[in-house]
Amino acid sequence: MAKNNEDLMDKVVSLCKRRGFIFQSSDIYGGLANAWDYGPYGVELKNNLKRAWWKSVVQERDDIFGMDASILMHPKVWEASGHVENFYDLKSDCKSCKKRFKTADLKDQNKCPECAGELTEGRKFNLMFKTYQGPVEDVANLIYLRPETAQGMFVNFLNILDSKHPKLPFGLAQIGKAFRNEITPGNFTFRTREFEQMEVEYFTRPEEADKKLEEWIDYRFKWYLDLGIKKENLKKRPHTKEELAHYAKACTDIEYNFPFGWSELEGVANRTDFDLKQHAEASGKDLQYFDDAEKKKFYPYIIEPSGGVDRSVLAFLTDAYHEEKVKADTRVVLKLHKDLAPTKVAVLPLLKNRPQIVELAKKIASGLKKSFITVYDDTAAIGKLYRRQDEVGTLFCVTIDVQSLEDKQVTVRSRDTMQQERVNINQLQNYLGTFLSS
Ligand code: GAP
Repeated sequence: MAKNNEDLMDKVVSLCKRRGFIFQSSDIYGGLANAWDYGPYGVELKNNLKRAWWKSVVQERDDIFGMDASILMHPKVWEASGHVENFYDLKSDCKSCKKRFKTADLKDQNKCPECAGELTEGRKFNLMFKTYQGPVEDVANLIYLRPETAQGMFVNFLNILDSKHPKLPFGLAQIGKAFRNEITPGNFTFRTREFEQMEVEYFTRPEEADKKLEEWIDYRFKWYLDLGIKKENLKKRPHTKEELAHYAKACTDIEYNFPFGWSELEGVANRTDFDLKQHAEASGKDLQYFDDAEKKKFYPYIIEPSGGVDRSVLAFLTDAYHEEKVKADTRVVLKLHKDLAPTKVAVLPLLKNRPQIVELAKKIASGLKKSFITVYDDTAAIGKLYRRQDEVGTLFCVTIDVQSLEDKQVTVRSRDTMQQERVNINQLQNYLGTFLSS
């Protein structure tokens, strides 16, 4: 199917709403622009994606510890990190229609792209959301919603040294919400003001940082491919010097070929010793690492693979979206990787007016639920039930028919091949397990 087209994006957005993956936030009130709610399938997909990330960066490695830091942090964190001073976009306002634009996106920085009115000069607009802690709305109580999860790990560096006594190189990993008051959110869940990040902060010897950066770029790139992203839709793009964030010495984006063009999925950066030094100076705490062998102290460098959960979900959804001609019909199928598919098994009785069949089907479904995300559905004819499950990416459909009552076998249909196989009911769990286990 053609990529880079609005058609594909429209189809994915429509499927997400129709089948319960992603809904507009506050829909019944007309919706809150650029805020999205994950529905029953969406939350399973999102949780599966986060689990796969955690497995790859925490569970399967000896050198990374998981964390879950709070969203609200001491305001001094954001002064030390440079976000109060440097985390801004330039915005231009139209003097006629009053619309606001990100200056960097404008072709003509003097003329409004909507009404051709005159634009103000680009003015700094800090992207951090501000609020007040406690009942008094006073500058002394000013607090920010974190714009990245990273700082929660830097400020815990000392706690980790003292509690885990790790040797370099080692890392911290966390998944959590981040907030940015983006001037131009859009493209469905691609750029929003509230989103979720999956970040690793990997502490390494300064002299090994360049090598570790390359290793992490490759490690993270492979993760997307292993989970089924098509090779031709993924690329690496090193940042130019002008693009680098205020804390980074080098950065390579992993980009995905979204329907609206190549865009960043994840950034892998060398943050040097910037953050630890800044926090050491601002807090007065010694955040150096003591090398036992060499009996010396130094600030480690930090390599940071930083990905977006919502962007990844969108990339996996668009990559998995397929339309296939089946006879005179079009089959829409989400070919999500088995670890990501929201539902693994659907149990479908062929005849819902036969109580024995329904009873057996429900019994099989409730048994499978203990091992796999399983649904039971008897609300339509079998052809329609199959299409429904294909559309949400369910890996296997198990059909119970009259014959099943006699031979104690069921029909198992694979999502991708549509091949059907008869399987003994008492073998069903093992049969599915061999395909579904990670
Ligand atoms: N700690 C480094 C950092 O935050 P970033 O490139 O600004 O780096 C990392 O963000 C990732 O977070 C991006 O690659 C993207 O996947 C996700 N992300 C950033 N801003 C986002 C937004 N407004 N909406 C959705 N995802 C976003």
